[in-house]
Amino acid sequence: MCLQNEEAGVSDPNKNGMIEYRPFTSDDIAAGHALSSAVRWRHRPDDWRFAARIGQGFVAQDDSGVIGTALAWRFGREAATLGMMIVAPERQRHGVGRKLLELLIDELGPRTLLIHASPAGESLCGKLGFRSIGTIHQHQGAAFQPPLVSLPPGERLRPLGVNDVPRLVELASRASGLDRSDLLPALLDIASGIALDRDGELIGFALFRRFGDGHVIGPVIAPDSPDASRAKALISHWLALNAGMFVRIDTPAEFGLSSWLEGLGLPHVDSIEKMMRNGPLPADPQLKQFAITSQAVW
Ligand SMILES: CC(C)(COP(=O)(O)OP(=O)(O)OC[C@H]1O[C@@H](n2cnc3c(N)ncnc32)[C@H](O)[C@@H]1OP(=O)(O)O)[C@@H](O)C(=O)NCCC(=O)NCCS
Repeated sequence: MCLQNEEAGVSDPNKNGMIEYRPFTSDDIAAGHALSSAVRWRHRPDDWRFAARIGQGFVAQDDSGVIGTALAWRFGREAATLGMMIVAPERQRHGVGRKLLELLIDELGPRTLLIHASPAGESLCGKLGFRSIGTIHQHQGAAFQPPLVSLPPGERLRPLGVNDVPRLVELASRASGLDRSDLLPALLDIASGIALDRDGELIGFALFRRFGDGHVIGPVIAPDSPDASRAKALISHWLALNAGMFVRIDTPAEFGLSSWLEGLGLPHVDSIEKMMRNGPLPADPQLKQFAITSQAVW
């Protein structure tokens, strides 16, 4: 898909030069990585490659090169997530971020749009019709104590098999309210997985992959329960296998895993606002996404 920008060549009154807005291509990955490093995000070039492989978006550029990016990931016909919205620190507060976000909104039309908004992005998103729907807590660390979590009778953890993919897509889609048909196969190219099995039926799973300075656990999908024990068992599996490694997990505040993660030695290091435009999403209340895949793709 090619995103068109009919307003290329917008003048920037603060720089007395022309800023061009055009579609993001794979040739922009190095520039995108330089921007994310400049705002102290931990993404590797490989993390950008994955984001670009499954998403589309825009860059802002002038004579000095790329000065801003914003990407989107479509999930079916009804929804999309937005992210990697970055403007070079020395070029911020001059309207570039707003223009990039407006281009994405125009391109995506009436879909339900989701974004994890930083404090800097929150007011901009609010001005463009996004409303807060909750908070994500980011936990990470290396000095954790992997816990033992017991499962209800008849339930066990087992390795994922190739035949599980359709069921993973179904569970991930129901839990998030987003069509995960394209995301799951792409994720499985770069992630390892563990399944939660109840009497031969796959009822949950958790993926684990390289990201930033270490590894990330997510998505974690499991049936809802008051003590979140199944989600805890899935997370504990990956912690036990990776004791002492740097691990990150981003969990919705409303599921109450934060104090448990803190107790394990994975401190809560940051929070980010979940924001939605044109909601709601058709998520299944019986299933929960206890940890997101990433702040970009939810
Ligand atoms: C968020 C970000 C992309 C905004 O880009 P920008 O080019 O500076 O934004 P704009 O100049 O277009 O500002 C748009 C609006 O956001 C508001 N805004 C911009 N930066 C802000 C900040 N640091 N804090 C609070 N509000 C801010 C402005 O008031 C502006 O409102 P206005 O258009 O009514 O005047 C940029 O600050 C950035 O790259 N931050 C670091 C990465 C990040 O946090 N990304 C956001 C993820 S959602």
